[in-house]
Amino acid sequence: MNFVSEKVLSPIFRWAGSKKKLLIEMLETFDTKNIYIEPFLGSGVVMSNVLKYKNFDTIYVNDFNSDIIIFYKEVQENGAQLKNRLKEIIEYYSNLNMEEKTEFFYLQRERYNTFNDKNIESACIFWFLMQAGFNGVYRVNSRGEFNVPFGKREKIYFNESNFDEIQRLIENVQFYNQDYIEFLNNFSDEDLNKSFIYLDPPYLPVSASMKNMTMYTKNAFDHKALTAECGKLLKRTDVSIALSIADSELSREIYQTDFFYNNDLAEIIRNVNPQKVLKVKEQLYTSYNL
Ligand SMILES: C[S@@+](CC[C@H](N)C(=O)[O-])C[C@H]1O[C@@H](n2cnc3c(N)ncnc32)[C@H](O)[C@@H]1O
Repeated sequence: MNFVSEKVLSPIFRWAGSKKKLLIEMLETFDTKNIYIEPFLGSGVVMSNVLKYKNFDTIYVNDFNSDIIIFYKEVQENGAQLKNRLKEIIEYYSNLNMEEKTEFFYLQRERYNTFNDKNIESACIFWFLMQAGFNGVYRVNSRGEFNVPFGKREKIYFNESNFDEIQRLIENVQFYNQDYIEFLNNFSDEDLNKSFIYLDPPYLPVSASMKNMTMYTKNAFDHKALTAECGKLLKRTDVSIALSIADSELSREIYQTDFFYNNDLAEIIRNVNPQKVLKVKEQLYTSYNL
C-alpha cells in the first residue's frame, strides 16, 4: 500500500508530542501478526491508523490515564451525544471574548477536577481542556488534578470527519485502564505468540531539569523495568515487539540489549519518503529484523 498518498488520521484530541509525524513510515515496520497490543495509548493516533491501514484481527489498547480511556469509551458507546456536546461547547466558546474565554477555561478546569462521575460531560470537558489548554499538554499535580494553564486560543476546532471515522474504526477495540505490566498479564502465552506489541513509553528525561518535571502521571516512569518486562516476554513467547523512544545516551544505555535491533527511524523514513525531513532523533527498537 502506498501510505504516503493516503490520508493520515489525526489524534481525536489535541496531544503534545503525538506520533502523527512519524506514523505512516513507522507503520510499515510493524510486524504482521493477528493481535495488536498497545499498552501506552496516549492520543490513540497510532491505534487509529493501525485500524485504518493494517490488518490485525483483534486490537487491545491500554493507558494508565483514566481520562483517555473514559473518553474513548464514550466515543465508542455514546459517540453521537458526545459529538453534539462538543459542538455546543465550541459554539459557546467561539462567542466569548478573550477575558471570558480565560474565565470559562479555568471554570471548566475546576469543574473537571471535582467531577465525581466520569461520563459524557467529563469526556467533553477533557476534550475541551486539551483543545484550549497550553500546547495540548496533559499534566496533573501531586493530587492528580489537571493543572495545565489556558492556551489563549482564539478558536478551537473540531474535526468532525476525523471523529466519525475513528468512532467507526474503534467499534471492536478493547480498552483497558491499567498499569502496563498488569495489562500485559491479561494475555496468555498462546495469545502473545500471535501478537505484535507497539510500545511508546513516557519520555525519558534528557536533562537534569526535566527529571523534576512530572509528565503524564504522578510518578516517574521506570524504563529499566520496561526493558526487563520485554526481555521476559521475548524469552517466554514468540511475541513481536517494537518500541519507539527519542534517541539519547540514556535511552541507548537502557534499551540497547541483545533482544532488540536498534533502528534509526529517520533512516527508515528517508527510505520510504526521501522528501520528508525529520528533526527529532527517534529510535525504533524491534525484536525482529527489519
Ligand atoms: C508517549 S505517550 C504515548 C503517545 C502516543 N503514542 C501518541 O502518539 O499519542 C505515553 C503514554 O503512556 C501512559 N503511561 C505512563 N505510565 C504508564 C503505565 N505505567 N502504564 C500504562 N500507561 C502509562 C501515559 O499516560 C501516556 O499516555
